[in-house]
Amino acid sequence: MNFTVLTLFPELIENAMNTSICKRAMEKGYISLDTIDIRDFAENKNGRVDDYTYGGGAGMLMQAGPVYSAYKEACRRLNKEKAYAVYMTPQGRVFDQRVAEELAQHEDLVIICGHYEGIDERALEEIGTDNISIGDYVLTGGEIASLAVMDCVSRLVPGVLGNETSASDESFSCEGLLEYPQYTRPEVWHDRKVPDVLLSGHHANIEKWRHEQSLIRTRERRPDLLKED
Ligand code: 6GU
Repeated sequence: MNFTVLTLFPELIENAMNTSICKRAMEKGYISLDTIDIRDFAENKNGRVDDYTYGGGAGMLMQAGPVYSAYKEACRRLNKEKAYAVYMTPQGRVFDQRVAEELAQHEDLVIICGHYEGIDERALEEIGTDNISIGDYVLTGGEIASLAVMDCVSRLVPGVLGNETSASDESFSCEGLLEYPQYTRPEVWHDRKVPDVLLSGHHANIEKWRHEQSLIRTRERRPDLLKED
């Protein structure tokens, strides 16, 4: 999986991705990250890439030209006529595990992060972006959202997690239920004991208990997940 992020804050993206599992995945070559600074494609001497909106209203908008030039540069680096592009926007379809699995099927993902009030619509139309939101709230820019998407997609790339079962066992993959509670040593902590069944060594009972706990937890915390869709 090759990620190319178009952003005004490339260092934020690089720093965040250079940690933990994503860092290791890059070192091992399962994923790659390239960033393109949209400001490098400013069409004036002072490096501005934003301007006032036609029709008035508060805030500035990123201009079509620099965003489109940055996208073309991404395509050139990827050796592709038209690389698949995702625009991070609260007006997109809402990101979930299903969308992550869909995005993970692409070889290359170009992720466009907007700032200010967003990007001139014509650039997005010309590129033909997939539009993705990470939830119903507003962030100041697409960068943090793009990190959530890249983190989530990365762990679906074969090899990244090491233990191949761990991605499919968890919340949202296993029948769409939340994951059951888990425990490690010590057996007693602050007077709280690990449930006996987990110490029993009886695998069928453990499976049954975990499934029941998943149901209870989902009913309590996310009843919406139990409704048929
Ligand atoms: Cl993708 N971008 C911004 N700016 N805000 C968001 C978002 C994205 N998803 C939820 N809120």
